[in-house]
Amino acid sequence: GRCVVAVDGPSGSGKSTVSRRLASALGAQYLDTGAMYRAVTWAVLRYGVDLADLEGITKVAGELDLAIGTDPVAPHVRADGVDVDADIRGPEVTAAVSAVAAVPAVRQLLVGQQRALIEAAGRIVVEGRDIGAVVAPDADLKVYLTASADARAKRRSLETAASVDDTHADLLRRDTLDSTRAADPLQQAADAVVLDTTAMGIDEAVARLRAMVTA
Ligand code: CDP
Repeated sequence: GRCVVAVDGPSGSGKSTVSRRLASALGAQYLDTGAMYRAVTWAVLRYGVDLADLEGITKVAGELDLAIGTDPVAPHVRADGVDVDADIRGPEVTAAVSAVAAVPAVRQLLVGQQRALIEAAGRIVVEGRDIGAVVAPDADLKVYLTASADARAKRRSLETAASVDDTHADLLRRDTLDSTRAADPLQQAADAVVLDTTAMGIDEAVARLRAMVTA
């Protein structure tokens, strides 16, 4: 049956891995909303639009042909027909994404696309920053994944080859931008289950969440 699981939290909290594995375990689809903000940011950089040019950013977002797959085993993103899976995880996009994600018109556009994808899937695990609060306030389960900044920086630096110190600084910078912006800031939904993964393995996090989904 229908089942929507919202997973929110900061970078390096284990959101992506836990969400994908949970989706597979539930026989559900998987939506990485961060990948959508990253793809818009990739286009903004590609077309040379200044990060202070809100109208320019809005225009790029509106004209972008964004295609995101929701198979938890093989997620993929295409922007204007280009496979951007690797580029959207690169340092240039990571440095600019929080600025682009703070533009209200960009959020409005992507939230609409996200709701349509959720509606079409019916059974889906959705990860992001504002899923439980804004995108899917009626989700069957809302999860807020977190971990200490040290643990998050260590995990992320293993994935990216950047140093732990640089990664730590980037995470704190984005945490601040994402949680203080005016539009849909990163926040813990009042009815979210909080899971601190600092000392918890992926398997345990997935098992605990799996047990909370009754549908
Ligand atoms: O995994 P990581 O935290 O590096 O990034 P992500 O989940 O791919 O999200 C990248 C950025 O997109 C975040 O830092 C936010 O600025 C933005 N984002 C957002 O504003 N709202 C979402 N629902 C998802 C991501």
